[in-house]
This record gives sequence, structure tokens and C-alpha cells, in this order.
Amino acid sequence: MVEPVTLKVASARMLTDAVRELVFEAGGGAALAGFTPGAHVRFLLAEGERCYSLVDFDAGAAPDGAAQYRFAVQLEKDGGGGSRFMHGLMPGDQVQALAPHNDFPLAPGKPALLIAGGIGVTPVISMAAALRQAGTPFRFHYAARTEAAMAYRSEIEAAFGELASLHFDDQPDTALDLGRLLAEAAADEHIYVCGPKGLIEAVKSRAEADGIAADRVHFELFTSAAGQSGDTAFEVELKSSGQVFTVPPGRSIIDVLEEGGVDLVHDCRRGDCGICQTDIIEGIADHRDVVLSESEKAEGKVMQICVSRAKSARLVLDL
Ligand code: FES
Repeated sequence: MVEPVTLKVASARMLTDAVRELVFEAGGGAALAGFTPGAHVRFLLAEGERCYSLVDFDAGAAPDGAAQYRFAVQLEKDGGGGSRFMHGLMPGDQVQALAPHNDFPLAPGKPALLIAGGIGVTPVISMAAALRQAGTPFRFHYAARTEAAMAYRSEIEAAFGELASLHFDDQPDTALDLGRLLAEAAADEHIYVCGPKGLIEAVKSRAEADGIAADRVHFELFTSAAGQSGDTAFEVELKSSGQVFTVPPGRSIIDVLEEGGVDLVHDCRRGDCGICQTDIIEGIADHRDVVLSESEKAEGKVMQICVSRAKSARLVLDL
């Protein structure tokens, strides 16, 4: 069992109407553990566990220690309350968290195509900073809905200049041309994409169509773990015990089952690692992960219970 650490808010500011930057320092006097580009911290909140990627413009956080942790948190109006809690934190407030963990590391020494959508830019900033410092070639593309919705625009322009290309959904002349970016990928270039599900799926399918090996495509999903407007409650029955749980809107199957004392295995809780995959005995899943292929989703035999919900009133799961 990893021991939680106490983090204290050192500063907070709004980056856009919906994105709040939080900088933490060690709350208990001990130094903060170091991290590598792409790492995240898991916060242990009353609303459930929430993971946020570390933002590092300086590539200054050596793996053996960091002075501060910086995050940018998007307010999820339909989420389970974790982002609302984070947006309410003020300097001096303390939270519990686990030490940084990296499921989205850079391939050492390999040129990189970095693609970020929305708040998925946070780990990508740290990657770009590390690549620049190492002198490794990279291309950095960052898309947002509008200029006003783009977090860290001025910081990115100052830090990376022409190495960063910005794209805005409401400005067609800036459109992100995934087909061209992937077609131009060098044979040893690795592709990293972080953002909403649609962006990750588009990159994965383009890369597959272009014959880019899957081990050169790395992704991390940024989505509210348990929330979309229009979500309704559904029931989950455990095959082993017959216990039935109700999963309300705004909570994940994992949240509800763990609260009920069920021991589960999971990691990312965002739908991109596949660790929580569970067999479906009965019912129809509403798949929200990026692990399963379209044909696996249509087959309906398994689901990622950290993010996916139900289209039927009840799911019977092999748990
Ligand atoms: S915990 Fe990673 S996909 Fe569910």
C-alpha cells in the first residue's frame, strides 16, 4: 500500500473560464517526490480519486525531487464533484495524494509528434519541455475549441515559439490536419496524443491506416470519469454474490462498488489502460473508453468499469 502524502496549495489562478491552475508544495515538510514527463498525481478526495497530470514548462523536476507540483484542472459541470472541489481550493488548503506515477512516458531519444486537445495539453507541455531540453526533435500541436478556451497559450508561445502550432476549432484556417501530420511522421517518430476520446480515436485509426506500428502510438484520455449530460442511473449485479448496486449519474461503477466493499483492480480510471476490464454476463454497456476497438465494443462481451456505463437498466458483471 502506497502511503499518501499531504499537498498544500501554494497558489491558484484561473487560466480560462473553466480551467484553474493549482500549484502545490509539500504539506508535511518533506520534499516532494520527483516525476518524469507525462506523469500524473492521484488525489484522494471525498468525491473519489481523481488524477491530474503534472505541468512542467522547465523540465526542471528531476526524477529524484520536485519543489512544487503544478496542475491545470478543468471544471466538469456534469462530473462527480472532484473538479468542483479542486476549483474551490484556496492557498493554504491541504489535500491527500499519492506520489506521481507515469503511464504516459516518452520513448527515450526518439523524435516525437505531440498532439494535445483541450486540457489534455498538461502532460504534453512537460513532454515538450523535456524534449527541447534533451535536444530531441519534436512537433507540438495543440487544439482548443476557441482562443478563449485555450489554457497556457501565452506560456506555450513564450516557451516553445514556432515549435508549437496552435489550432482553434472555430477558425477553419487553423484546423488540425491529422492526416498530414501522420503522413509526415518519420519512421522512428513516436506519436503522443492526449485529449478527448474523439481525438485519440481519430489519431489511432489514422495511424493504423498509415501502417504506423501500435507501439509508436501513445495516448492518455482526458475525460470526466463518470459524467455526461443525460446520464441516468442503472443497476449492476455481481455474478458471484448476486449483490445489486445502483450507479447514479456522476459516479462510476468502480466508485459505487468500492464504496460497497468490493475489491477491484484498476489504475488509470480514465478508460485508457484496460486494467479494470470486466466480462459482461448480461446487459448492454455504454462504452466510453479508448481501450476497446469498435468491433469489441459492438460485441459487448467486456467493458472498462472505470468510465463505461449502461444502456440497459441492469448489467450483470463477472465480479
Ligand atoms: S482503470 Fe484504466 S481503463 Fe479502467
